[in-house]
Amino acid sequence: MFLQRRNRILRQSPAIRSMVAETILTPNDFIVPLFIDEGQGVEQEIPSMPGYFRRSLDGTVKEVKELWSLGIRSILLFVKSKDELKDNTGKEAWNPDGLMQRSIKAIKNAVPEIVVMTDVALDPYSSYGHDGIVENGEIVNDPTVEALVKMSLSHAAAGADLVAPSDMMDGRIGAIRQGLEENGYTKTGIMAYSAKYASCFYGPFRDALDSAPGFGDKKTYQMDPANRLEAIKEALMDVEEGADIVMVKPGLPYLDIVREVKDSVHVPVSVYNISGEYAMIKAAAKMGWINEERAIIETLTSMKRAGADLIATYFAKDAVKLLNR
Ligand code: PBG
Repeated sequence: MFLQRRNRILRQSPAIRSMVAETILTPNDFIVPLFIDEGQGVEQEIPSMPGYFRRSLDGTVKEVKELWSLGIRSILLFVKSKDELKDNTGKEAWNPDGLMQRSIKAIKNAVPEIVVMTDVALDPYSSYGHDGIVENGEIVNDPTVEALVKMSLSHAAAGADLVAPSDMMDGRIGAIRQGLEENGYTKTGIMAYSAKYASCFYGPFRDALDSAPGFGDKKTYQMDPANRLEAIKEALMDVEEGADIVMVKPGLPYLDIVREVKDSVHVPVSVYNISGEYAMIKAAAKMGWINEERAIIETLTSMKRAGADLIATYFAKDAVKLLNR
């Protein structure tokens, strides 16, 4: 048989495969989501996220030191608010002495160089478990945006490097940018969850923070999984309004969107490999149906190949250890 081209030549050994690999994962690709709880010495495994923990601030600071030493450069903070602090205004979200604000300060104090990103949305603070303020059964846009600006400013004041609005209200990126400018926070960035879909895969996360919506769903603000053009529109608008980084979320079922957003904007693109995606790999691996280590690397590689410059993932620490082997 005579063949002009033999594609298997470049696949024949590990050395040659590594020479021609187009996508290389590195520790600085990863953003590590952290769940923070009140108290001391608290380390609670999240039942639907085996191997992942919600920790009090002391343990979180220890974890952040370890992440930094592993080469991880950024974290994304979420807090679990106490039930008695929840109301419909979400005002605990901008309490200067709130758990989030204390956490930002403590972490920045312990590991000043790590890039601290913070989730901005009202759901952990809302008595309704919604990302915004509720009036007559509706999640109202403009009053919510005002609350999100206050929340963002309080994170900036505590020392957050980037605020990450995950709420999907209209106009919030522009309003937050304006708020930061007017208050002199000219070094605080915005990572916008631009194309965030109304996904069933957020379930385990809502367990972790006890933040499931008390009524209805999030379909009047998060995007319809059927839509593609809308994602591009959202990303372009967020860039115009002042986003430094745009995000697509979830990850695996939306890699087409990651690629298209990447080709449409001139800012870094991040993707969120979310809680349900983590849970699926963990569950299948536990059953012995897939190889967990290979599934982790293959998943994260596919996200970077799709165009993600950054990947928020609960697998970051595992991945770094695997990459260093
Ligand atoms: C809150 C928020 C959610 C996630 C990140 N920020 C849940 C939601 O929108 O209901 C999900 C993260 C994950 O599932 O890993 N606004």
